[in-house]
Amino acid sequence: MKRASVRVRADRERGRIHRYIYGQFIEHMGRCIYGGVSEPGSPLADRRGFRRDVIEAMHGLRIPIMRYPGGCFSDEYHWRDGVGPLDKRPRYAEQFWTRALRGLNRPHLAPLVGPPETNAFGTDEYLTLCAELGCDPYLNLNHGTGTPEEAADWLAYCNKRPESPKKVTLVGIGNEVYGPWETGRCSGEEYGRHFLRYAEAIRKVDPEVKLLAVGAPKMFAGFTEGMLKAAGPTMDYVSAHSFYPPIPGTRKLRNDEADYWAVVTAPYALIRNVDDVLEAIDAVLGPGSPVRLSFDEWNLWCDWDDCYATNYDLRAGLFFAGTFHRIHERVPRLEIAMIAQLVNMLGLIQTNESSLFLTAGYLVNRLYAEETRPVCLESDVDGETFDSPGWRDVPDSVRALINDRLSGIPYLDASATASEDGGELAVSLINRYLDQPLEVSIAVEGSTQAPSSGRLRTLAADSPFAHNDFDHPRRLAIQQTPVSTGDGPLRLELPPHSVSVLVLT
Ligand code: AHR
Ligand code: AHR
Repeated sequence: MKRASVRVRADRERGRIHRYIYGQFIEHMGRCIYGGVSEPGSPLADRRGFRRDVIEAMHGLRIPIMRYPGGCFSDEYHWRDGVGPLDKRPRYAEQFWTRALRGLNRPHLAPLVGPPETNAFGTDEYLTLCAELGCDPYLNLNHGTGTPEEAADWLAYCNKRPESPKKVTLVGIGNEVYGPWETGRCSGEEYGRHFLRYAEAIRKVDPEVKLLAVGAPKMFAGFTEGMLKAAGPTMDYVSAHSFYPPIPGTRKLRNDEADYWAVVTAPYALIRNVDDVLEAIDAVLGPGSPVRLSFDEWNLWCDWDDCYATNYDLRAGLFFAGTFHRIHERVPRLEIAMIAQLVNMLGLIQTNESSLFLTAGYLVNRLYAEETRPVCLESDVDGETFDSPGWRDVPDSVRALINDRLSGIPYLDASATASEDGGELAVSLINRYLDQPLEVSIAVEGSTQAPSSGRLRTLAADSPFAHNDFDHPRRLAIQQTPVSTGDGPLRLELPPHSVSVLVLT
């Protein structure tokens, strides 16, 4: 049997893990909002039109912060359209994503990914949802077709009226402003100057609200540096977005060995966009800068069809877990993270008219949200490594942008966290071997408290491509087994292509 070992340094803190790293994102895109979160008239909806089954599934993720209303959608969104009596709200036949999909030469997807906008779900509905979930609202303001005044009025509507369901804690100014697809695209310097105007108007309304500025990967050379030079350290956060493969729509994901390796190793390629922004902050503001990073869109995104409905199999579950580990490695500077997105559109939760199912992505997210403790510890792994050829069968022009040939990837990937008092320990473990179980020995060094009980919570299946669906909503589920604790290293057997968390208390 394959063997590997993990050494956890209970006395060496890597950094504090902010609860915001398990955030979520919902956008007016595909069926994320309409037909997902909100479906008035459905037998599954409550009196506000929220899908009760979706809300229950959202509760399971213990969402700490939720971003809304986009994404690209937000750079064309006028918030006044979505407040006031429902029958007075304007209806639009098209929105950003309708045009975008037509522009991408996918006319059949245009009305599905960019459905008509009824504005039935707007600010009050969003804030009510956040209040019910107990999460902090993160509003993405319109920098594309909006103004600082409109943005400030929106914040006042949320934070200065006593009847507001929930106060907004964080606002982002624009989205992916560097991209040729984005409404309001401009250079980093120009955006930095716009940011200052928005910041001034917003802080007059609420000096407490945290501000987020858009950052860009190195592919958009100099954008982040230009923005930081123009705006200085006036923001609380700079954002990074990253999808794998980096260009959606190259081809569908395949259930074969090559795509298994590409997906399970993708977290190492994905996280480069975060490192690009951290480097830009270091270069312009200095490594001691208090400006933090918000990794507020990340995911696996292969085909444009995935924006209507998608599914995440066990192999994708290994991708989500691996990305959480890369996020843990970057705390405390990386303070916010969210998968794009939560429901239907690239969603962890998938619905149809009469039911829903939870994808492997959801199950891994819930496992990590439940078990990750606030103190990230140093740990190291001793075991075999491998090289990955990356995403295959794409045009050469795309190949150059993907840059995902990776070497020295460990088959066993581990991350360790502890409670504040050190009494609880969680070691998350990914076995990337495609068809081999792995015997792992785990040694905890530097701890003064011996655990009295242990349990192993695992997501596994015979095939790495196993998945839940509407007909088999519980084919994949987290299984729990007790682990006996005693003197010396613990020995565990991890199934092939699996994700586990060892919890010691
Ligand atoms: O998450 C889907 C879309 O991807 C968002 O609207 C955009 O910000 C990103 O490119
Ligand atoms: O056209 C939409 C944009 O295309 C997405 O937001 C971006 O991620 C993609 O490259």
